[in-house]
Amino acid sequence: MTLEHHRVVITAAGRDFGRTLALRFASLGAEVFLSARTLDAAERVREEIRAQGVDADRVHAFACELTDPASVREFAAAVAARTGHIDVLLNNGSRYQHGTDLLSASDEDVVDTLASGATGTVLATKAFLPLLLASAKPDIVTMVSGCGESGHHRSEAHDAFYAAKSAQAGFTDILSRRLRDRGVRVISLYPPDFDNHDPLSEAWENAPRTAKDPLTAQSLVNCVLFAIGQPRDCFIKSFHFEQV
Ligand SMILES: NC(=O)c1ccc[n+]([C@@H]2O[C@H](COP(=O)([O-])OP(=O)(O)OC[C@H]3O[C@@H](n4cnc5c(N)ncnc54)[C@H](OP(=O)(O)O)[C@@H]3O)[C@@H](O)[C@H]2O)c1
Repeated sequence: MTLEHHRVVITAAGRDFGRTLALRFASLGAEVFLSARTLDAAERVREEIRAQGVDADRVHAFACELTDPASVREFAAAVAARTGHIDVLLNNGSRYQHGTDLLSASDEDVVDTLASGATGTVLATKAFLPLLLASAKPDIVTMVSGCGESGHHRSEAHDAFYAAKSAQAGFTDILSRRLRDRGVRVISLYPPDFDNHDPLSEAWENAPRTAKDPLTAQSLVNCVLFAIGQPRDCFIKSFHFEQV
């Protein structure tokens, strides 16, 4: 699959799965607009991508603090200064909070967990919607989590993280319906914990991927590529995964 004609925005691409998405989309030819909480972190990933032979004008780095509406708006404005449209928004950013005891997290942790995952996803989608609506093939992809599924209880994540993921699920569910007539596909992934192998390591190609193994980032990237690669009559709304 080549993504030569795709302009892709990725939030929280400074490490882990966001970095994986940035590296993989760039390696498939997409022009990527990646953000991290600090510009330094985003620029480090941009340099890793450039070191793979990607031209400087195909990878752009920005700072974006998802809990700060002004920062999200500035990120979108900075992208709009470089392009009149984007084709894919990858809502990846969301802070994790561990702990099965509600009392184990501070009030600040609760606020930040909800603000980054829930509020941040709504704000980023709102800020980038005009650029998406200017695309002939707009897709919004959100990394939710099994924790966003109704009745899910297997994770050791904090209740505030469940709340953030449930908010993402509710938001993308209604958005998918409401943007259907405008041709925007809203695709959500609800993975359990997965192994995020480094795309620049041997494990990316060689990690075991049998039925006995945990879900991998490789498979999740493939799900995203499959969904956005479909003809425009095909609105894949969500990916759910059986737990091990
Ligand atoms: N890993 C899993 O097993 C798993 C399973 C299901 C769903 N997911 C979801 O998949 C996505 C990526 O997972 P991951 O494992 O890469 O997550 P992660 O390792 O917990 O990293 C979280 C990312 O979000 C960023 N972030 C946190 N708060 C932010 C804020 N206020 N503003 C901007 N960025 C912020 C972090 O930036 P900093 O580097 O600055 O902290 C980091 O890049 C998340 O939405 C996660 O909930 C992950």
